[in-house]
Amino acid sequence: MTFTDADYIVISRRFDDYVTPLLQLPDPVGKNILLKRDHTRRVLENANELCVHLKLSPEQARIAAAAALYHDIGRFPQFIRFRTFADSKSADHSLLGVDVIGEEHFFAGLDPAVASLLLAAIANHSRLVIPDSLPGNVRMLLRILRDADKLDILHVVTEYYRTSKKGVDSSIALDLPDTPGVSRNVMRSVREERLVNIADVRNVNDFKLLQVSWVYDLNFSWTKERLIERDYLTLLFEHLPDTPGLRELASRIRARISDISI
Ligand SMILES: [Fe+2]
Repeated sequence: MTFTDADYIVISRRFDDYVTPLLQLPDPVGKNILLKRDHTRRVLENANELCVHLKLSPEQARIAAAAALYHDIGRFPQFIRFRTFADSKSADHSLLGVDVIGEEHFFAGLDPAVASLLLAAIANHSRLVIPDSLPGNVRMLLRILRDADKLDILHVVTEYYRTSKKGVDSSIALDLPDTPGVSRNVMRSVREERLVNIADVRNVNDFKLLQVSWVYDLNFSWTKERLIERDYLTLLFEHLPDTPGLRELASRIRARISDISI
């Protein structure tokens, strides 16, 4: 398997050539393209830092960077076509990504083994859990990508919760209604230290708890340290209703986080 610096430069240029003109589209499209372009850049930075921490070879780190760069490529056609980032209301953005990579020949000229590794990672990156049936190198790439991705989504959503106006539906919160209360299944998943399934998410509070539940789905201690350092759990709970149940949950998770083994 070969993936050189020159290969990375080629696909990185193709990414820019595709995305840059889309930024000019009239709002709301342009600003949502920018949101995902900037998210991609930060996921790429996170993945690079994580690869340094993991002491991966330069080639492995480049492959991880390429996966980070392209993981959400499907978000661009998704927003243009459907005006939403909610997969349930449009199409699976991971699979849209695989389609657009094929249509636009983004991976033309790459070692076919690298292209299929990247496509497998992109196709599976947003699943609830990483399937055991995937080959080891795909699973490793997904572990890096998913941690890098989650860390930046936490950045984006906590900024959004801090600054958003109450009652305004937004593409960041998947156009979910900002209604009171929390769904029973969502609460149960977090209590039982399980990942919240997006299918159970009914409102913005549920969506916040889904992000809380990510503490149970981190792959590397590096990511957990960043999550603690940036205090994302506090930021999420600050924007959840102040009920005894949620207060208890917050203190339990905060006490547990350092014991969650990775
Ligand atoms: Fe992402």
